[in-house]
Amino acid sequence: MAQQPPQTAPTPAEAFDQVVNRRRSVRVFDAEAAFDPEAVARSIDRALLSPNSSNLQLWEFYRVRSPQALAKARPICLNQNAAKTARELVVVVVRRDKWRQHAKANLDFLKSQFDGSNPKRERQALDYYSKLMPIAYTNDPVGVAGLAKKSFQTAVGLVRPMYREAGWNDMRVSAHKSVALAAQTFMLSIAAEGLDSCPMEGFDSARMKSLLGLPLLAEVSMVIGVGPRKPEGVYGPRFRVPREQVVFEL
Ligand SMILES: Cc1cc2nc3c(=O)[nH]c(=O)nc-3n(C[C@H](O)[C@H](O)[C@H](O)COP(=O)(O)O)c2cc1C
Repeated sequence: MAQQPPQTAPTPAEAFDQVVNRRRSVRVFDAEAAFDPEAVARSIDRALLSPNSSNLQLWEFYRVRSPQALAKARPICLNQNAAKTARELVVVVVRRDKWRQHAKANLDFLKSQFDGSNPKRERQALDYYSKLMPIAYTNDPVGVAGLAKKSFQTAVGLVRPMYREAGWNDMRVSAHKSVALAAQTFMLSIAAEGLDSCPMEGFDSARMKSLLGLPLLAEVSMVIGVGPRKPEGVYGPRFRVPREQVVFEL
């Protein structure tokens, strides 16, 4: 009998490669295959460790799990296959309106850590949350505050590099960036758990917000269908435009 080569554990990079390659957008989930809802809880816990702007953590995750809630959410997701067959829907929400509360949480945490051993660094960190953050996040939808800040930034930017994003929509983009990173951590974790996902932006955002009882300023980033895949749930081979069209070196 031919000798089997000894099995070696994949390196972390090889294991990550497997996870990245396993993750596909799955549009048809298997209603019968094993599904551990705890894998979703673990994946949300991992998502909460994602990098995020100023560590403000302006995200929320809503698990839509009960048959009644799923029955309401599916038409809101326009009855897409991924939503119709998902065992759970995880709605990833952007809570820009919570910046003040989370800035204070950061401030309180930093104060609890600091012991006066590096006063300059400690003061800078505290000022960041107590002084800079309010300047960046205090905005109005009309854009008056944003215009004032933009004018200042543009003037300073003429003579030195200057951060230029501080308007109402800039802060929306900033919050959405961070929340989307958390969504990606969640989906990679779901793949590492041997399960599957499909991110969706095709849904009725007003109805979804109403289902979740969200306030006016909250925004839904993505709805993610989760479950074990059916083989036909992957609609085709993966397509990416050629690397040289999107990767550049200076
Ligand atoms: C923000 C975002 C929104 C998406 N919305 C939908 C959607 O509404 N319905 C859907 O079937 N797929 C949706 N997708 C999945 C993409 O079509 C998919 O990621 C892309 O075709 C690449 O395929 P892959 O995920 O299998 O690599 C979305 C993906 C992202 C990141």
